Amino acid sequence: MDQAERLRNLVQQSNARNGLQQERDDKKSMTPLPAARTVPAKRARVITVTSGKGGVGKSSVSINLAIQLKKRGKDVIIFDADFGLANIEVMFGAVPKYNLSDVIFHGKDIRDVIVKGPSDIGFISGGSGINGLGNMTREQVMYLVEKLKELESMTDVLIIDTGAGISDSVIEFVLSSEEVLLVTTPEPTSITDSYALLKTLNNRAGDMRENMVVKLIANRVSSREEAQNLFNKLQVVVQRFLKLKLDFLGMVPWDTNMSKSIMQQKPISIAYPESDGARALSNIAERLLGSVPAQDDIVEKRGLAAAIMKMFHSKK
Ligand SMILES: Nc1ncnc2c1ncn2[C@@H]1O[C@H](COP(=O)(O)OP(=O)(O)OP(=O)(O)O)[C@@H](O)[C@H]1O
Ligand SMILES: [Mg+2]
Repeated sequence: MDQAERLRNLVQQSNARNGLQQERDDKKSMTPLPAARTVPAKRARVITVTSGKGGVGKSSVSINLAIQLKKRGKDVIIFDADFGLANIEVMFGAVPKYNLSDVIFHGKDIRDVIVKGPSDIGFISGGSGINGLGNMTREQVMYLVEKLKELESMTDVLIIDTGAGISDSVIEFVLSSEEVLLVTTPEPTSITDSYALLKTLNNRAGDMRENMVVKLIANRVSSREEAQNLFNKLQVVVQRFLKLKLDFLGMVPWDTNMSKSIMQQKPISIAYPESDGARALSNIAERLLGSVPAQDDIVEKRGLAAAIMKMFHSKK
């Protein structure tokens, strides 16, 4: 089976699940409100991986960063917020039986929807859950929020792999996350779309924009100079027109092992740990662990749960 065929199969299975989901959702099964609960003490570091343009390497970065962080002793869960596409599923080589909708509508525990992938990385599929927010009752949303708080207390790092571009859900995920990694490639369209995303974030962040730092990953570059050029191009316009800040987190070279590893459904950090691509991602993980987000940020932004609340309110 080639990669395209495998992807098609996975998408079909995912669509079939979502179709079934819709049928069940139509029956409006209600999940009871949870008992009041105290805020959990442990709170994951929430890292959102995003991009202006699609196909620039968000999922590759997410999964490999997860593996690299795991190698350094961190527990990691990836939340696939890229609804409809089966990206991480394909890279993991595993189809999750349940997704977030099953938590909302069928009383599944959040632990039941986490599948374990390579290196014991947890993976949770958003399914059609968040797209359906507009149709949910307040009780259902509150229930989801409680469950997501639980998720954040279960792991050291929660990586959110978002869809590309400027949709409301992507923006809310980004605004609610204390750390944002922006993946960009040297293609001119990737650079302009990254700027468009930064501009929207800047406009939507309100008073918080002065404290907002977005960390750039230059992916699929041919040299350090090309990565530096890419960063400079964005930095010039960001400094001139926006209040938020852009930092350079690191570069990942173009590496054929990256696409080879997707075919093999084994992330490059496992299949080719000594390759240039894997080493670059290892350096990025190292740098991330060396920089801890400001406490102010963690207090101000309340993670996934806060994003869901905002999305729900914006749809009402
Ligand atoms: N550094 C790299 N070198 C070579 N190929 C790469 C590199 N990074 C990613 N790719 C390839 O680019 C393609 C897109 O990568 P990926 O699926 O991670 O992007 P994405 O941003 O998650 O896409 P989408 O927006 O569709 O979710 C894949 O085929 C992947 O193998
Ligand atoms: Mg992806």
